[in-house]
Amino acid sequence: MEKLIAGQVVTYTGDPFEIPPEEAVQVLSDAAILIRDGRVVSIGGREHMRVKHPEAEFHDHGPALIVPGFIDAHAHYPQTAMIASWGKRLIDWLNSYTFPEEAKFADRAYADDIAARYLDLLLANGTTTVTSFCTIHPGSVDALFEAAEQRNMRVIAGKTCMDRDTAPEMLRDTAKAAYDESKALIERWHGKGRAVYAITPRFSPTSTPAQLDALGKLWAEHPSCLMQTHLSEQTDEIDWVKGLYPTARDYLDTYEQFGLVREGALFGHAIHLEPREIAHLKAMDCSLIHCPTSNTFIGSGLFDMGARKSEGHRVGLATDTGGGSSFSMLRTMAAAYEIGQLTHTALHPAQLLWLATYGSAQALRMEDRLGSIAPGMEADLTVIDLASTSAIAQRAIRAETIWEEIFPTVMMGDDRAISATYVMGERAVV
Ligand code: GUN
Ligand code: ZN
Repeated sequence: MEKLIAGQVVTYTGDPFEIPPEEAVQVLSDAAILIRDGRVVSIGGREHMRVKHPEAEFHDHGPALIVPGFIDAHAHYPQTAMIASWGKRLIDWLNSYTFPEEAKFADRAYADDIAARYLDLLLANGTTTVTSFCTIHPGSVDALFEAAEQRNMRVIAGKTCMDRDTAPEMLRDTAKAAYDESKALIERWHGKGRAVYAITPRFSPTSTPAQLDALGKLWAEHPSCLMQTHLSEQTDEIDWVKGLYPTARDYLDTYEQFGLVREGALFGHAIHLEPREIAHLKAMDCSLIHCPTSNTFIGSGLFDMGARKSEGHRVGLATDTGGGSSFSMLRTMAAAYEIGQLTHTALHPAQLLWLATYGSAQALRMEDRLGSIAPGMEADLTVIDLASTSAIAQRAIRAETIWEEIFPTVMMGDDRAISATYVMGERAVV
């Protein structure tokens, strides 16, 4: 069965940080997307496509904007229920709120409940793909991948590994258990349907060198997996890392020594970087994941998007929930804009939209399948109402250009702006 999904369709011709944003990101007014077997077949003018494909089921979204499904490139689904916990900075926030909540995932039924709740929240917010940390419990990984399988969502995830006494005992594994359990999960899930496994050491301060070494070896044995962790989020954390790894040249080196710095490595935050780290991350073609609502909420600092993009880094955009304060990638784009202003780079709405879709897909090295609306791509789509609240509508109506019309939704929009979400061409019920 073919389907035509009509609206104002966003397509990409290039990187809006390399060519003019309004040239790189095109908005085709009055267009329709033809979908067959969950993939995009073609895009054309609405009336032309209707005449050409009279049998196709017609989904008319009027003047709504149709964008690639949002891709949240770094999140912690187990932190769903403790999002917006008050008053702490990173290390105290982890100890006070995060670790006690993550301990609850020893209970598989609790993990199933949160995984389902979380993915439904994502779909309601127009996010069709997430790269998530789980907890040290292998059942927390099964819970998320099973919930994703039920929704046919492309989800990237992995068991969070921690074996140092800096983490509470109830949340510690060992170097060997981290290797064995991650390996068994890779064999069970990696490449099954839309599931992709990410080897997941939480961050250097909660792993021993032996654990990072074991996970580096595991990655070398399964090179098509991704690897996700955290890097240089807060200055206190960097000082802590220096104390725990006294011979390391810098924070990145604590990963580099163990084979964890190469293409397919996703470094969350990466704010306070040394020149050597910036150069080596680029040389190794690693991905930096910007988490703006988290960086302001936990008080971490300002990621320099303008500098990192002009150096040619792969940069994805992410919520980092529950460190981040929202499940919405629209809200995340707004926070990225605000941090851009504080770092002297006024990000164009076309750049923000591109980062939340193609940029994240590129960071995950999946831009051949995800992150744009083009023939052959998986048909994960988000439909956005550009007048979803009275406050947005009264501003949008004065707009003289399409980007002026889109920007109020970027800055002020949330799940109320998401009028439909399609996963592999099927409309998600949320
Ligand atoms: N660094 C290590 N673990 C975490 C986490 O759960 N959230 C954030 N924001 N930073 C971290
Ligand atoms: Zn994180």
